Amino acid sequence: MNKVNLSFSKWISDNLESINDNLSNILTNCNVESSTLQKAMQYSVLSGGKRIRALLVYASFIAANGCIAIDYETSFSVDNAAIAIELIHSYSLIHDDLPSMDNDCMRRGKPSTHVMFGEAIAILAGDSLQSLAFELLAGISISHEIKLNLIKNLALSAGYLGMTGGQAIDLTNIGNNLSYDELKNMHSMKTGAIIACSIKFGYILANSNQFIQCMLDKFAYYLGLIFQIVDDILDETGSDKQLGKTSGKDSKYNKPTYASMFGVIESRKMLDNLRNKAINIIRPIGLYNKRLLEMLDLIIYRDY
Ligand code: IPE
Ligand code: IPE
Ligand code: MG
Ligand code: MG
Ligand code: MG
Repeated sequence: MNKVNLSFSKWISDNLESINDNLSNILTNCNVESSTLQKAMQYSVLSGGKRIRALLVYASFIAANGCIAIDYETSFSVDNAAIAIELIHSYSLIHDDLPSMDNDCMRRGKPSTHVMFGEAIAILAGDSLQSLAFELLAGISISHEIKLNLIKNLALSAGYLGMTGGQAIDLTNIGNNLSYDELKNMHSMKTGAIIACSIKFGYILANSNQFIQCMLDKFAYYLGLIFQIVDDILDETGSDKQLGKTSGKDSKYNKPTYASMFGVIESRKMLDNLRNKAINIIRPIGLYNKRLLEMLDLIIYRDY
């Protein structure tokens, strides 16, 4: 799980296999009375997705742990934290696509959850995935202090101070001209907070020192911003087929984005600048920052 000498593509494929197996197992074994609700939960989580947030939990753990050796119990905890964050992310996507939010009928190359199951079940599937994520964290066999720290950070990142707070800013500013600081703040809340929580999960589970935590928090801030800037650019430049979701929606709905405020070329220059800042921040970690740096480039240079 945490080998740094594997090639990046091998590391990704090994981890993706176990992340997808773990997600599939948890969604098969949870005892949902309504088979429709269970099917909607499975459909939204298991129908693709890059699993970037789960991979970031592993990459951050490696950077913060600073050694290859890892005991079985810790490895099990990292696996559970990684899928908990993906459950929250999938819930946020189901709700983001609802007619009352972004009204997108396609997600991960397939009909959105509300198109397949109706709005009521889609809302409930999102709600259920959110509570399942907390249930998973609560069940991790680790010290109460560490567990509480994971739960608290997920609550803060997913809620009004993070993701849902940022989504509210997004949806109440359609057609508005935000200032640069307001745009940055919206992005770092709606998307950056969950990305930053993935990084926090890694270092909390590695029980790392304050110095490393502070470095990784700063890195995570830039990474979250970078993630949404790339998403904004792809919305403008990509096709539906390439993205697996409806392209061009941000400009159609007059959403404030980096692409609309600065244009695609300038936004790409800003990405280069943020990339350099992110790289410099985690340089002192040395060898074990390798996976995080590779994830950074995967996020910046992705085409979907
Ligand atoms: C899309 O996230 C939503 C944003 C926060 C911008 P991803 O691009 O990570 O979506 P999946 O999980 O790979 O489908
Ligand atoms: C969504 O941002 C952020 C979330 C919290 C889900 P977008 O609305 O830009 O994400 P996409 O483009 O629909 O994936
Ligand atoms: Mg949105
Ligand atoms: Mg959207
Ligand atoms: Mg988008």
